[in-house]
Amino acid sequence: MVGRRPLIAGNWKMHKTPAEAREWCAGFRTRLPSFPPGVDVVVCPPFTALEPVSTALRGHPSWVAAQTISDQPSGPYTGEISASMVFSCGARGTILGHSERRAMGETDEMVAARVRVALDAGLRPIICIGESLAERESGVTTEVLTAQLESILAVVHENEVDRIVIAYEPIWAIGTGRTATPEMAQVAVADIRIAAAARLDASRLRILYGGSVTPATARELLVSPDIDGALVGGASLDPESFAMIVEAAG
Ligand code: 13P
Repeated sequence: MVGRRPLIAGNWKMHKTPAEAREWCAGFRTRLPSFPPGVDVVVCPPFTALEPVSTALRGHPSWVAAQTISDQPSGPYTGEISASMVFSCGARGTILGHSERRAMGETDEMVAARVRVALDAGLRPIICIGESLAERESGVTTEVLTAQLESILAVVHENEVDRIVIAYEPIWAIGTGRTATPEMAQVAVADIRIAAAARLDASRLRILYGGSVTPATARELLVSPDIDGALVGGASLDPESFAMIVEAAG
């Protein structure tokens, strides 16, 4: 990861009430008042805990991101949350295109629209791409990743490369305990970097791995030359295991 800051992001998904989130923050701050130099740490709580987490982490070096945003600024979109709403709750980034949202109907075009809205609103998008098990087994992983990536990069300007993060999350590794081997993750992430080079300076693009990352697997994944960090689900819910993964990035 020459020249690229490592980034560890915790995606809490649909977990933790505001009270539980505050308790997590207190535990995390005590366990890890500072980070190894140069490591970025991002906490992605549900919308209802954004403001409590932003407040509870004030003065701490980690920053806060949402788990998605609407592609609309405001209007009659019942249940949706806009970029400016999450920004006003302290979020400075947002996950976009997570496979759990794609499974509910989010298309590449919808993800791309949200990427543009996030960048225009001053949010750093962490954009997820990844293949299914069937796609991997039929040998089309590179094609799937390239198509998802191209749709995203079509809306990103070259000078925005430092503001976006790509997260490679193979769907078969999410929440299954079946982590990709460091070799598999490295090959896929290197392919993503090669594909990105057609559009921007890919040597500056941060690419994370996500899918059953734990304190036991983090270090061997993070030493891979193209993997710049991790997007952590289940293991981010406990401040101790999340802190151990942050330490593995240092
Ligand atoms: P797990 O770490 O629980 O597999 O989740 C990964 C993920 O989806 C992070 O966005």
